[in-house]
Amino acid sequence: MDSDLGGTMKKSTPIFTKMLEYRAQNPVRFHVPGHKGRTSPDLPFYALDLTEITGLDDLHQPSGVIREAQQLAAEVFHAEETFFLVGGSTVGNLALILTVCKPGDEIIIQRNVHKSVINGLILAQAHPIYLPPKIDPLSGLAVGVEIPTVEQILSKHPQAKAVFLSNPNYFGMGEDLRSLADLCKRARIPLLVDEAHGAHFGLSPRLPPSAMQSGACAAVQSTHKMLSSLTMSSMLHVQGGEIDRSKLRTILTMLQSSSPSYPLLASLDLTRKYIAEEGRQALDDAIARSAELVGMIEESGVLWLDVLKQGQYSYLDPLKVTLRSRASAYTGYSLKQFFEHSRVYPELADERHILFVLSLATTTEDITRVCDVLRQLPKHATDMSFNHLNNTFTFAREIILQPHQAFHRTTERLPFESSVGHVAGEMIVPDPPGVALINPGERMDKQIMLYLKELQGMGCQFHGVSDPLLNTIEVIKDL
Ligand SMILES: Cc1ncc(COP(=O)(O)O)c(C=O)c1O
Repeated sequence: MDSDLGGTMKKSTPIFTKMLEYRAQNPVRFHVPGHKGRTSPDLPFYALDLTEITGLDDLHQPSGVIREAQQLAAEVFHAEETFFLVGGSTVGNLALILTVCKPGDEIIIQRNVHKSVINGLILAQAHPIYLPPKIDPLSGLAVGVEIPTVEQILSKHPQAKAVFLSNPNYFGMGEDLRSLADLCKRARIPLLVDEAHGAHFGLSPRLPPSAMQSGACAAVQSTHKMLSSLTMSSMLHVQGGEIDRSKLRTILTMLQSSSPSYPLLASLDLTRKYIAEEGRQALDDAIARSAELVGMIEESGVLWLDVLKQGQYSYLDPLKVTLRSRASAYTGYSLKQFFEHSRVYPELADERHILFVLSLATTTEDITRVCDVLRQLPKHATDMSFNHLNNTFTFAREIILQPHQAFHRTTERLPFESSVGHVAGEMIVPDPPGVALINPGERMDKQIMLYLKELQGMGCQFHGVSDPLLNTIEVIKDL
């Protein structure tokens, strides 16, 4: 991050300051919200839960403190313009797709995107051209896309409206976006990036560059995930002239509440100030703590547990620590439960892994607690090269209908095991990480059916499905 951030930016928090000024007047509140700032002493921010009263600006038409706070954020996060989001990165992804695509337009999309991107396609009635992700051989996880793949698809689909990537993935595995951004520039097509897991990128030289620094036209960041704003508060950054900003503004007003939460907005304001003043040092400290955690895990002597190291992608976010089990007695899901029994809560599990997310708020005591739990695990396992899955997964499915076409078709319910050969009428999404393994309109085959049943048997939670136990599935009727 630039070290010469202006004094004003460091000191001011336009939204939050105005909220404090309002509260200090002991105002008589004849405006919404109905609690009038008086309810629940247990939730201290009721008093600051405000609305668009005079002086507090309007997210749908910002001209005062919100505009100022967004401008300050744009400077810190290397954007030309920043939009505050109160519906998470979900709303940013939806808005970007609806801005660039009219019904029937093609858009080139990394296949392992968050479900919100697929939902964006359904709402926009856009046609995805999928970019298959690489599968990292070390972890078996889907990571980024390869440049030759993007080149090939761009040359076949010159009419596509944008390239939409998700970078980094949930586990912090990411690609250097500079060459991809250059490629998109040469093809005169905007590069849009879901950077939900990379709000801290570019804020220290020890972190990967952000999508904005790498030349993307738009990036959506969950400020609440890796930085310190409140849950649901995110930012959408844009630069260059490729995106119709006026349309984007209108679409954001369609998707976001006309009564946005001021505590959420203020938390974005406060986070930006903190980052401008102390972010680099705080992030470097967090990276050092993360290295300490990795060292402690490696010294713990639990021989069937590995810390994931750099694989076939450009970089691994140092604030994500992923453990991989090679013992049959512990899947990622059961390992997560083991930690939770000791009140240590990892971010997510899959069949083989658990993920610890560190941030600038992680303390040395937090790290020690992880190691205390590790000490309770057996050092040896009889089968230390066990693979938890019988079935491997690829994203290669036959696409029969576009997601929006399938979404609007009549469906029928079938026993899950009988779905092979049928076309899915719903999305099947292990969550987290929230990446759909089946999109509506894709044909079920035996491999995916068995894989999903196996995941379900291990304790994976599913979104998108009408029957989360996967006993049944909605398939398209009368194809
Ligand atoms: C890659 C990715 N994009 C977008 C989202 C949605 O973000 P939010 O929860 O801020 O709406 C998530 C949520 O986990 C995600 O993993």
